[in-house]
Amino acid sequence: MTDRILILDFGSQVTQLIARRLREAGVYCEIHPFNRMDDRAIRAFEPKAVILSGGPASVSDMGSPAAPDLVFNLGVPVLGICYGQQTMCAQLGGTVEHSDHREFGRADVEVSGTSPLFDGVWRPGGHYQVWMSHGDRVTKLPPGFRVVGTSPGAPFAVLADEKRRFYGVMFHPEVAHTPDGGKLLNRFAKAIAGCKGDWTMAAFRQQSIAAIREQVGKGRVICGLSGGVDSSVAAVLIHEAIGDQLTCIFVDHGLLREGESKEVVDLFRGHYNIPLVHRDASGLFLERLAGVDDPEKKRKIIGATFIDVFDQEAHKIGGAQFLAQGTLYPDVIESVSFAGGPSVTIKSHHNVGGLPERMKLKLVEPLRELFKDEVRALGRELGLPESLVGRHPFPGPGLAIRVPGPVDRTKLDLLRRADAIYLDEIRKAGLYDKIWQAFAVLLPVRSVGVMGDGRTYDNVLALRAVTSTDGMTADSYPFPHEFLARVATRIINQVRGVNRVVYDVTSKPPGTIEWE
Ligand code: XMP
Repeated sequence: MTDRILILDFGSQVTQLIARRLREAGVYCEIHPFNRMDDRAIRAFEPKAVILSGGPASVSDMGSPAAPDLVFNLGVPVLGICYGQQTMCAQLGGTVEHSDHREFGRADVEVSGTSPLFDGVWRPGGHYQVWMSHGDRVTKLPPGFRVVGTSPGAPFAVLADEKRRFYGVMFHPEVAHTPDGGKLLNRFAKAIAGCKGDWTMAAFRQQSIAAIREQVGKGRVICGLSGGVDSSVAAVLIHEAIGDQLTCIFVDHGLLREGESKEVVDLFRGHYNIPLVHRDASGLFLERLAGVDDPEKKRKIIGATFIDVFDQEAHKIGGAQFLAQGTLYPDVIESVSFAGGPSVTIKSHHNVGGLPERMKLKLVEPLRELFKDEVRALGRELGLPESLVGRHPFPGPGLAIRVPGPVDRTKLDLLRRADAIYLDEIRKAGLYDKIWQAFAVLLPVRSVGVMGDGRTYDNVLALRAVTSTDGMTADSYPFPHEFLARVATRIINQVRGVNRVVYDVTSKPPGTIEWE
């Protein structure tokens, strides 16, 4: 079995980043809520080490969350981060207190002792930048521990019990603002816990193929293709495992970008020879969307219509027992909520959510352990073209949410042409891979212009481009003015119906990435 690390989550906003950093080092790990694994499950997981994440609670409060005691009795290394450090200390006989000197943001750690955790990364006596976010601090060490790093607000910034291989850091090594944090996690996973770091995409591919064959047997699988990276990678992987027991269904809602639907059909039917049903349902989608201008209604209509059409096509094929989905790890992780109660729905995302219940099919989700960039790496491993693997994320409801107000075919065609020019210029300028997402939005606004000797009264188009790491927050991309001017001129000259182009400089929050 691949070496694996167990991350117990206490609800920090950045727990996922711990997993990211370990996976980057070739170490497989999983995140589980601190209170959902009983002793048997923890033993069955066979962790080579355990990491206790940060979290919003305070150890000095009554009933504050604690790690299962077994974690400290397994004989494996344990790393406590922020809240994880504090609960570890409290559970092992130390003292943690509220501090008046709260530390948030950048801080400076001075290395005051030697430790295998630091070897080759931090030198004794050195000062290093870290990112802190805490209000409590350890005031008395548990037996066996000593201090190996201090900071002005946290005299116990880094603790070590080398004999038991227990470590505690007050700062967050997983975030980018702790520049050496990834290296420290790497030291913990490899030098201290002995993980080999041999978790590669080639190994994952072989393991998944075996697992898919085992799960599916001689059964039939259907898979919805969207033209995006996740469903494409899932389909190619499953096809490699079970060949023509897989049929893909491509529900073409007519809301894709220019040339995309042909690309999907050519690639899957032509290149991979995967059985593919292509249903052009654009007429039905547009009919149901006619005159609807409320963004949430549009999203709901598209989601429901997708399920209707997919269901019809699946019935025509008949005999399927399994539904394949490109679900990713961030969708699977059940994060611990201390706030309680449902959070506000900003947008109802459309990703075939209702299908499995309606169709009574078992799910095949070969990507549920992967992050987005790992899916891309797997796609490359499977030989998918770079144009698909490196493609910007695209929302399920497609261009319908980039045409504020009611959608129709004319508006969609116009948007598609303008969007294609914008993306072409971005590619030519070598900027495509620096941008998380770039797209055009056709505004329900007309403006007066002058072209040649005549007056125009045409549409306004907004351009948007953002940088982001996960789509949760985003900044607008700082294009040079000349670039924007060039795109605007080309769009206005080549796309009849647009006479004005504007650039959206809103970040998220307070904006969202899409306009609807
Ligand atoms: P927002 O607009 O919420 O978008 O800032 C965040 C990210 O999610 C994408 N997005 C969607 N993806 N189904 C999806 O699969 C959807 O309904 C949907 N709505 C937005 C958006 O493109 C961005 O990457």
